Amino acid sequence: MNRKWYKEMSVYHIWTRSFCDSNGDGIGDLGGVMSKLDYIKSLGVDGIWFSPIYPTPNADYGYDVADYRDINPEFGTLDDFKKLLDEAHKRDMKVFMDLVVNHTSDEHWWFKESCKGPDNPYHDYYIWREGKGDKPPNNWKSIFEGGAWEYVPEINKYYLHLFAKKQPDLNMDNPKVREEVKDIMRFWLDMGVDGFREDVITFISKAEGLPDGIPIPVACGIEHYLHGPHLGEYLDEFREVLNEYDCFAVGEGPMLSLKDAVEFCSEGPNKKLDMMISFDHMNADGLLVEWIPRPFSLKSLKSNMSKWQEAMYDKGWNCLYLENHDHPRVISRYGSEKFRVESGKMLAAMYILQCGTPFIYQGQEIGMTNIIIDNIDDFKDVSTFNNYRLFKNLLKFSDERFLKLANRASRENARTPVHWSAEKNAGFTTGEPWFKINENYESINVEQAEKDPNSILHFYRKLINFRKGNDLVIYGRYKEYDKNNRRAYIYERTYKNERLLVMCSFASRPMTIKAPAGYNLEKGELIITNYDGATIKDNAFKAKPYEVRVYHFK
Ligand code: GLC
Ligand code: CA
Repeated sequence: MNRKWYKEMSVYHIWTRSFCDSNGDGIGDLGGVMSKLDYIKSLGVDGIWFSPIYPTPNADYGYDVADYRDINPEFGTLDDFKKLLDEAHKRDMKVFMDLVVNHTSDEHWWFKESCKGPDNPYHDYYIWREGKGDKPPNNWKSIFEGGAWEYVPEINKYYLHLFAKKQPDLNMDNPKVREEVKDIMRFWLDMGVDGFREDVITFISKAEGLPDGIPIPVACGIEHYLHGPHLGEYLDEFREVLNEYDCFAVGEGPMLSLKDAVEFCSEGPNKKLDMMISFDHMNADGLLVEWIPRPFSLKSLKSNMSKWQEAMYDKGWNCLYLENHDHPRVISRYGSEKFRVESGKMLAAMYILQCGTPFIYQGQEIGMTNIIIDNIDDFKDVSTFNNYRLFKNLLKFSDERFLKLANRASRENARTPVHWSAEKNAGFTTGEPWFKINENYESINVEQAEKDPNSILHFYRKLINFRKGNDLVIYGRYKEYDKNNRRAYIYERTYKNERLLVMCSFASRPMTIKAPAGYNLEKGELIITNYDGATIKDNAFKAKPYEVRVYHFK
């Protein structure tokens, strides 16, 4: 397997607004990140990915970019960013930016120009069409906000927005737009940034003629852009820029097939991206999305993780994650709030020891959990509001019923301020926090976790450091055992003559876990566990709730 620095690193993901506030305005900022750089470094990670930190009207908290070459004034200045970049580099940490180019904000000057009419040189930067009679150009529905077309009476045309109205889609078929994207990439790479996470990058090419989609209430039309006709070509063009630098790129591709992901990431002259963010394993408690809940299925989690592990091996590379700013907290989903510490550790080992680059989302490392919001007005997120309208109008949900669902499914769960201490406002701000803080901050916070040798935080450190420079964990082959077991996840990693056996209980009651044939647990070294590692009998052990054991064999 081809050795690469990006395969060997671990990455910390920051959603700045809720990370740490340095000036008391209640909003997290770059000063806050700067003040925590040593903390981030102490986790053992090798890089930071920032969700968008560009100027934005916050319709989608930064995923609506108003200027690609500056910093959101709420977060600081471009100089603050350069300092931060420098300080991160001094600590041997790389910095990755979020490249959001499927759409811009409607407040980006390109769009304002574009609205002036067909004669404006920026008009074709966006996707404008005339209506059909008094109807929009086709039946597409947006992912965030009703229909996918917005009418602009001044020029009697509609623009396409796959997400919110304030996120008009760029017309990537226009070569000028692609040149702009490449310039933006160079702007940050020249500054010293080490790569990108590319937002919904697989949506950038739309089918010729924009045909009607299969009528569904959300994202109708998605089959016409989830892997559009020119996607590969455009990604190749962007790759040429990436290839001029020593950098890496991870692509986000909701609903992209595994086959396509492998093709995009396969090593060789046609490689387009270094990794793809998989969504398959994030639906083990939902049907396609968290908003259509079902009981957590370990078999679904395992089979999806194994599928990606096997398909990418020796071809591309996996992006390993369980949390980000788009998903509820994983302990509340796949683990147990009752066994928070135990399940938090087990989940950490379960994914970090797989083959791929681990991403850790802010707060995950201290085991933050979902929040309870009991008032619709306390939500901030455009997609949560969209779901509110859909569930009320189509399914006649009461507010109460919707709140119950949203508290489980909404991505707001990941966006509450990080808990730094048991002090007022969890030490996140001295002012009024922009968003509700989870009430459990007094017991779950960084300060407490630092003091407690058995904390989830220390366990993350241990795992990240164990992985560092460890060929077995980084490059070893993955194989799953006992696939039909509905309560335990067992897999091995092999590299040369070494083997790692990872055994995880997903049960809240004790259960027996047996080592796979060919293993003798007595001969292995128990190197990582979240309990005291009680006795083995007949090559099996009585696993306590959410116990994980990792054995090393030489
Ligand atoms: C991606 C981002 C998400 C954002 C959406 C639209 O899925 O992760 O937060 O809302 O794209 O840009
Ligand atoms: Ca601030």
